[in-house]
Amino acid sequence: MKATTPPKTYRVKSFGCQMNVYDGERMAELLAERGIAPAPDGEEADLVVLNTCHIREKAAEKVYSDIGRLAKADGTKPMIAVAGCVAQAEGEEIVARAPAVSMVVGPQAYHRLPAMIDRAVMGERATDTDMPPNTKFDVLPRRRKSAPAAFLTIQEGCDKFCTYCVVPYTRGAEISRPFADLAEEARKLVEAGAREITLLGQNVSAWSGEDDKGHAIGLAGLVRHLARIDGLARIRYTTSHPADMDDALIAAHGEIDKLMPYLHLPVQSGSDRVLKAMNRSHTAESYLRLLERFRAARPDLALSGDFIVGFPGETEAEFEETLRIVDAVGYAQAFSFKYSPRPGTPAATMEGQVARDVMDDRLQRLQAALNRDQLAFNERSVGRTCEVLVERKGKHEGQWLGKSPWLQSVWFDGAPGDDTRLGDLVGVELVQAGPNSLRGMVRETVDA
Ligand code: 5AD
Ligand code: SF4
Repeated sequence: MKATTPPKTYRVKSFGCQMNVYDGERMAELLAERGIAPAPDGEEADLVVLNTCHIREKAAEKVYSDIGRLAKADGTKPMIAVAGCVAQAEGEEIVARAPAVSMVVGPQAYHRLPAMIDRAVMGERATDTDMPPNTKFDVLPRRRKSAPAAFLTIQEGCDKFCTYCVVPYTRGAEISRPFADLAEEARKLVEAGAREITLLGQNVSAWSGEDDKGHAIGLAGLVRHLARIDGLARIRYTTSHPADMDDALIAAHGEIDKLMPYLHLPVQSGSDRVLKAMNRSHTAESYLRLLERFRAARPDLALSGDFIVGFPGETEAEFEETLRIVDAVGYAQAFSFKYSPRPGTPAATMEGQVARDVMDDRLQRLQAALNRDQLAFNERSVGRTCEVLVERKGKHEGQWLGKSPWLQSVWFDGAPGDDTRLGDLVGVELVQAGPNSLRGMVRETVDA
């Protein structure tokens, strides 16, 4: 690789989950600290970071085609870094197959990106997919400006080893960030403009730590502490595993006003045989009972889930059990996927891989049911008056976009003499529901 001039502009392209969005923002800050500026809209940057996702199919193929397409206005290639989970899983192959890539950096090593850029400028290629626990968080720059709704990674990695999933391999073993670091980062985020913080992790319900008095606490304790931060109005968390939801967390949903009435709790399948083959450690029945306890604590809780259709060996009857659990829960939102064999995971070599057209058909039927329930949930919300956190300007002049407590997208027109600002919590009556958003009208007071 030839020596080159140091990059003046960067672009970080993040794919996949919110953890990657968080990591992408942190990388952008590292680059900005080095005096590299974000590339202007419509212009390719001198340095492009592809922050990749490996959770489902063709992720690696997509990376190679993205690399192929990257070009600056003069036809030359930008400096390219591949980051994220594809980098972790297939680092060596990327270096071998894509000569245009100068840096491969895993999700636990991206704090070393600036040093890698220096080497790339000298014409060296570098790969760093080490997994030292925690260190990256210690060296990341502090955030100076935050969106009204911010993310905070509290935990990374997963020890659950669901048989279809690459996460335990790409993100490694579960680690919890220390309480003091999280408390400080949350405070800084609020000072920087955040009104809502979503606590992120592959398995946040497994977070554990010690509070400022040395008491052992779990996720519920962490939420309770963060809720004391003045100026922070809303707390959410995602994603959790049914096996780790404890009484304290259930109680927290009933007791902490700032904890929003929304729970994303993946179930994956409604069939106990499939759940066992997935190594999920819960049954359809135990999942439903758990949700009942959450709903008893917080009756207006909106539920969200993840589903996989076509896991190896899934029969039509077993798939129908998934449809039944959907009917039983009535999800407000959901994410559903066709099973994708991930190299190195136990399920990839299981017998009874399901044919593509069968998966297509099941996914379509599942999504029809989930869409129906999402619309029904939105329609049931009409008539409620709630706070909307204003996150963006709408398409039209004077229009605002934000989120309800139940994570619905809501748009509304500013009242006459409008002095609404991003980050405001505005009282809004939900007046009209669509499948993906609701229209609201500004009101003086909100429902209790
Ligand atoms: N195939 C399809 N979906 C998957 N997920 C994780 N691994 C796979 C896979 N191999 C889905 C699960 C998980 C979500 C983040 O992605 O539903 O909850
Ligand atoms: Fe993957 Fe299962 Fe861990 Fe979720 S709980 S990250 S699906 S192994």
